[in-house]
Amino acid sequence: MRMVVLVSGRGSNLQAILDAIEDGRLAAEVAAVISDVPDAYALKRAERAGVPTYCIEKRDYSSRADFETALADCAEGARPDLIVLAGFMRVLGEAFLDRFPGKVINIHPSLLPSFRGLEAQRQALEAGVRYAGCTVHFVDLGVDSGLIIDQRVVRVLPGDDVETLSARILEQEHDLLVDVIRRFGAGLV
Ligand code: GRF
Repeated sequence: MRMVVLVSGRGSNLQAILDAIEDGRLAAEVAAVISDVPDAYALKRAERAGVPTYCIEKRDYSSRADFETALADCAEGARPDLIVLAGFMRVLGEAFLDRFPGKVINIHPSLLPSFRGLEAQRQALEAGVRYAGCTVHFVDLGVDSGLIIDQRVVRVLPGDDVETLSARILEQEHDLLVDVIRRFGAGLV
């Protein structure tokens, strides 16, 4: 299974995928990593693993559709079976998604449909929920609104702040994402 991973930042989820492939836990290949942020640390992780990297910046295009078309052209060049948004901080529209129906998934740090959008862990703390978690879902035109594939639950502990809760959720994200990709590859999603 060939994957393209879209990133904007740190890339710890990308690293979890690369490590799982390296360890033989995941029979797949990251064919390309594409960032919309030139100095995203995720690009360094990809380079270290010998994965081709590309950077496509929104500001180089006059419209969102042109930007997304460039992104889609780049992704298509890697002939992906699956496209993983792993900390990719933009909402994608039709110009991208129509090119890869049923093939684009995202990881989000909340138990969707609660707490869509930015700072999901902060939203969970502010709402006072006792259980938080993460979700992998298919990407549709909304914000974190596509069909849910799977989730992991994380207990909110007394004294948790955004940092401690985010760190515990992130551990589960890494596990969940690799697990969903493995099942996708096996035709079970
Ligand atoms: C993760 O919490 C992910 O759920 C969210 O953005 C964060 C990305 O982290 N969409 P990383 O770049 O994978 O370390």
